[in-house]
Amino acid sequence: MKNRIYIKDLKEHVGKEIVIAGWVDVRRDQGKMVFFDMRDMTGKVQCVALPSRTEAIEKAKEIRPEWVLKINGIVNKRPEKNIKADVLNGDVELEVTGIEILNKAETPNFDVTTDGYEVGEENRLRYRYLDLRRTRMQKNIRNRHRAVKFIRDYLDKENFIEVETPILTKSTPEGARDYIVPSRIWQGTFYALPQSPQQYKQLLMAAGAERYFQIARCMRDEDTRGDRQPEFTQLDVEMSFVDREDIMGINEKLLISIVQNLYPNKKIQEIPFPRITYKEAMEKYGTDRPDLRKNKEDKDVLAFCWVIDFPFFERTDKSDNPQAEGEWTFTHNPFSRPQNEHMEMLMNKKDIGNILTTQYDVVLNGYEIGGGSIRNHEPEALRKVFEIMGYAEDRIEKNFGHMLNALGSGCPPHGGIAWGFDRFMMLLEDEPNIREVIAFPKTGEGKDLMMNSPSEVSEKQLKELGIKLAK
Ligand code: AMO
Repeated sequence: MKNRIYIKDLKEHVGKEIVIAGWVDVRRDQGKMVFFDMRDMTGKVQCVALPSRTEAIEKAKEIRPEWVLKINGIVNKRPEKNIKADVLNGDVELEVTGIEILNKAETPNFDVTTDGYEVGEENRLRYRYLDLRRTRMQKNIRNRHRAVKFIRDYLDKENFIEVETPILTKSTPEGARDYIVPSRIWQGTFYALPQSPQQYKQLLMAAGAERYFQIARCMRDEDTRGDRQPEFTQLDVEMSFVDREDIMGINEKLLISIVQNLYPNKKIQEIPFPRITYKEAMEKYGTDRPDLRKNKEDKDVLAFCWVIDFPFFERTDKSDNPQAEGEWTFTHNPFSRPQNEHMEMLMNKKDIGNILTTQYDVVLNGYEIGGGSIRNHEPEALRKVFEIMGYAEDRIEKNFGHMLNALGSGCPPHGGIAWGFDRFMMLLEDEPNIREVIAFPKTGEGKDLMMNSPSEVSEKQLKELGIKLAK
């Protein structure tokens, strides 16, 4: 739009006639004069239509909240007594000289000028495009972008490359159920959506990438909670020729940099981050994600900690681990490496319950916001893990042959981590759940109410896929 200026820049144009465009926010018709706020992606400004501007005031009487307007107006200083300090455009207002209606709007289903916590969530999700207009949600998605950009720039400087890995992939054990996608060409076979890029990032280490990251989408068919979505975002990282300290070190530095650069009002309780063993955490706090804040009332404190020394295996509970086959299953990640002094126990498959893994979790204010480990980079060691979990020889070959071959092809020692990026953003933005920092989240029942998904597909589609629904 020619000559349009952003609302945040109005104060640089005092005394001049300018053009803005955006949405009608709050509106107050005072009979003789009409006041209304205009909103664009940069902020809000109060507009006033005076009786002397006959054409403008006639239009101003017609307009309603959420209509889209182009406005010509003169930027005026507000009288001293009306100045609102600390508010954008608290000291200026726009005297409207012309209104062009770009689009009308149905009366919105709810108020978008509030913070929105008072609106039922079903309604908010059904009309998410309206809900996202509110200042709080704009702030959340814009700050999320800033954090992603900061991470990309930071890791780029540290010689990492971002590599996209497939979404149509193969089932990989991360402890949850897979979402599966039927193949049309190979009827009766299925892709799985990735629960994480775990195998691909390790294959990238075998491929010589050395320093990989990805802002990666992960899909897990598990029950949704406040800090869980069926589809969520990780900052996924993998590095070669490193030990546990290298990975924890670079991640700790990045976490601190994000807070200090983008959230300077937040205070990190303790640097370097305290470390606590799994055993100690369970004994002292009864959880492996302790909330170490000394004062839980103070919302600007961030208490990070690392939890280490987890057991590698636990006894199988088949009810909540669909991948479980034998007596033992992994606690975190089957690709992890045991701690050096426990390698022998793994290779001899003895004292299995006491093998400790190199796993490290990063916990923030009682939430697990990330976790990773050093991996087994020799094929024999990885094979032992699958054997302990009771996988038969042919199953190991069929499902993990490619991993074993890659490890046996000159794969460097490596390890990595993944952050639950939505959870981290939720805590930085002081939000009560991750749906508030995701543009288009699913409901607690895994539904997208706006798109009405999941939904049925046509008979024709099913037929093409060779699928018959059970009654
Ligand atoms: P993990 O399964 O621990 O590790 O996942 C890493 C982090 O992702 C977050 N997270 C979730 N966030 C939102 N919704 C979910 N459903 C959800 N599930 C997990 C958590 C968790 O700490 N491949 C390994 C990482 C590695 O070893 O490098 C992995 O995915 O914050």
